[in-house]
Amino acid sequence: MTLPIARDVATLRATIAGWRDAGQSVALVPTMGALHAGHLALLARGRELADRVVTSIFVNPTQFAPTEDLARYPRDEAGDVAALVAAGCDLLYAPGPEAIYPPGFCTAILPGGPALGLEAAFRPQMYGGVALVCTKLFTQCGPDLAIFGEKDWQQVQVVRRVVADLDLPLRIMTVATVREADGLAMSSRNRFLDARARAIAPALYRVLSGIAEGRAPVRAEAELLEAGFDSVDYVALRRRDLSPGGEVVLGAARLGAVRLIDAVPVSAGERG
Ligand code: PAF
Repeated sequence: MTLPIARDVATLRATIAGWRDAGQSVALVPTMGALHAGHLALLARGRELADRVVTSIFVNPTQFAPTEDLARYPRDEAGDVAALVAAGCDLLYAPGPEAIYPPGFCTAILPGGPALGLEAAFRPQMYGGVALVCTKLFTQCGPDLAIFGEKDWQQVQVVRRVVADLDLPLRIMTVATVREADGLAMSSRNRFLDARARAIAPALYRVLSGIAEGRAPVRAEAELLEAGFDSVDYVALRRRDLSPGGEVVLGAARLGAVRLIDAVPVSAGERG
């Protein structure tokens, strides 16, 4: 089977219009490629919830600071296409930069609320870029729903807020984080971990899970450093919407050039 690929908005919309004419619903899975089992779980959920699933692959420059890893962000379109075919994706939207940011593009979105603090304290450009590219993808594709992973918990809250504030007519759905056997959250950046870093990395999940199970967060940073992380950006306990409270434990820590993030929801009954 070959996977149809749209590289511009006209092709994307023409394909989706055909599905709409047939009365079919559409799910969008936005990604930056280098797909792994976590992405494929989003796609599988899309197949359950909608008649058609579009996966987008676009490494979005506006969510990277000049000092970050845009240039070396993993890209593997051939591998991604094979994975998408096997997973039953209906259409890959893989726009070139000009389809998202055409010459003269000068519009920004400045999200507040859930976009403030946590990740934004360390990556201030991140959520403006995410809000902008997701809004573009949503308006270009016009899906009934879009599906995101819980690992990027704050990103999901930001996207939900933007969708509500801008009256975008779609639902935002989430899927639980897919983990390696040792607990490490799947991430496209995991491939940059060398053997030593890979052995240390699951400590992030262990420490966050410990807090989710009731341990006080006070020693979390020390525990991560003892486990071998080079630095800890934050470990925080928040409500699901990121307001102060105890429903999800979020963390980010660095191992050499690799920055890992994770989020572990507190099970019902474990913390208030
Ligand atoms: O989570 C990601 O892969 C990206 O932030 C997203 C949502 C595709 C926007 O570029």
